[in-house]
Amino acid sequence: MRRAVCPGSFDPVTWGHLDIIGRASTLYDEVVVAVLINQSKPGMFTIAEREELLREVTAPYGNVVIDSFHGLLVDYCRARDIPVIVKGLRAVSDFDYELQMAQMNNRLAGVQTLFMATNPEFSFLSSSLLKEVARYGGDVSGLVPELVLDALRERVGTAAS
Ligand code: PNS
Repeated sequence: MRRAVCPGSFDPVTWGHLDIIGRASTLYDEVVVAVLINQSKPGMFTIAEREELLREVTAPYGNVVIDSFHGLLVDYCRARDIPVIVKGLRAVSDFDYELQMAQMNNRLAGVQTLFMATNPEFSFLSSSLLKEVARYGGDVSGLVPELVLDALRERVGTAAS
């Protein structure tokens, strides 16, 4: 079975993430979306909430499974026999750090990283920017699925349009 992992914080999942996950799901038999458990960064949504939102919005793909991990991504990959990490590249500004991580992950465990060019429709989008706009009452509809929009609205009051 050809398996890949899409790792990230997913706090919360956006259409930008789903664009990459959806395209990865056409290339691999199984795509594991792995949410990083970062004790020092609690985030807006708990790990369980992020996983639940991901589970709901990726259900249509059929071959996407949701999980969480802590520690090194390569240890997670090794433990689950996953040889490929799939990442989205939004802009040149993403590239430097992503390249460093890809090279380190390859050196540590021989894991390959596949970069996908983000759909230009979402190249400006990040979860942190999304949360900032939502917190101040900006309109974030169209940037996340309806289910996530509802969760955001609930979390920031009725501010997220
Ligand atoms: O959505 P994010 O926060 O940009 O995702 C970053 C993530 C989770 C992919 C990256 O921080 C990661 O892989 N963290 C796990 C710890 C690790 O393996 N660090 C060494 C990277 S070479």
